[in-house]
Amino acid sequence: MADVRPESMERITTSAQAQAFIAEQVEAVKAQVGNKKVLLALSGGVDSSVVAALLIKAIGRQLVCVHVNHGLLRKGEPEQVIEVFRNQMDANLIYIDATDRFLDKLAGVAEPEKKRKIIGEEFIRVFEEEARKLEDVDFLAQGTIYPDILESGPVKAHHNVGGLPEDIHFEGLVEPIKLLFKDEVRVIGRELGLPGAMVDRQPFPGPGLGVRCTGAITRDRLEALRESDAILREEFAKAGLEGKVWQYFTIVPDYKSVGVKNNLRSFEWPCIIRAVNTVDAMTAIIERIPYDLLDKIVARITSEVPGINRVLYDLTPKPTGTIEWE
Ligand code: XMP
Repeated sequence: MADVRPESMERITTSAQAQAFIAEQVEAVKAQVGNKKVLLALSGGVDSSVVAALLIKAIGRQLVCVHVNHGLLRKGEPEQVIEVFRNQMDANLIYIDATDRFLDKLAGVAEPEKKRKIIGEEFIRVFEEEARKLEDVDFLAQGTIYPDILESGPVKAHHNVGGLPEDIHFEGLVEPIKLLFKDEVRVIGRELGLPGAMVDRQPFPGPGLGVRCTGAITRDRLEALRESDAILREEFAKAGLEGKVWQYFTIVPDYKSVGVKNNLRSFEWPCIIRAVNTVDAMTAIIERIPYDLLDKIVARITSEVPGINRVLYDLTPKPTGTIEWE
């Protein structure tokens, strides 16, 4: 498949168009790989999940999915990947909990670009090690989409999980969605039966919570981040904001402030809420969250999350702030 989207290619919006695309790709993948095995790094993000579902349809257990948990995933994510792919779709799925390995490598590292580099490189190392253990894997599948091909020069080193292992030789690449835009990928995902929570999920960076646990990551602060993020997501969903706000998450920075909890002095981290709307992530505006909802979130985070005594709302558009803090 060429790397350029033909002008004649219609935008996929309907179920019938999605069915046709799926049927076409299933045949193409079968023809490309025959009875050989294909390896895929399955992060649980929209793109790799759609590729997994598509390839399972085409070649079933000839597809080997590797889900690497780098310890920087959101609450419930690895469990959801295992439930959907292993239990519901009968995928050939290898799950690797590499949390300790990543957090040990990141210990004491405060510089944002260095953190991103470590996470990206370590991910490829773990994936390569797994690939080497599997003897007869010939193809590598990737969730490349059209904007990945078009995009140039980001402000930050973007390390998408699923980067190409450098010193393993594969017979070829399988990239069935590389000419699709994100909205089309979601239509295909829905048609393949993936759950809404997976297909419509908000963007999540490859380095995960690592770029939101600012400075040198510690396990206790990472846990506070994960819990506060889960509360924010739960409250946004209850308020019906899930599909309306493009991206929303929390940040827990590496400094503390004085507060009072249960009539006692506390010295704990603040938690920062960021909720933005954007079309292409190049610029972003701040979502005007109702104060009542913010009050509820503040009350829950400060009472339910150990180590947090203050909640702030980031009012900075992009520019001058980037969406992520690191
Ligand atoms: P920034 O922070 O640059 O983010 O305004 C723009 C969008 O990109 C996401 N982002 C990433 N996505 N790998 C990704 O796949 C990354 O390393 C990465 N860094 C930032 C960010 O969440 C936002 O949606």
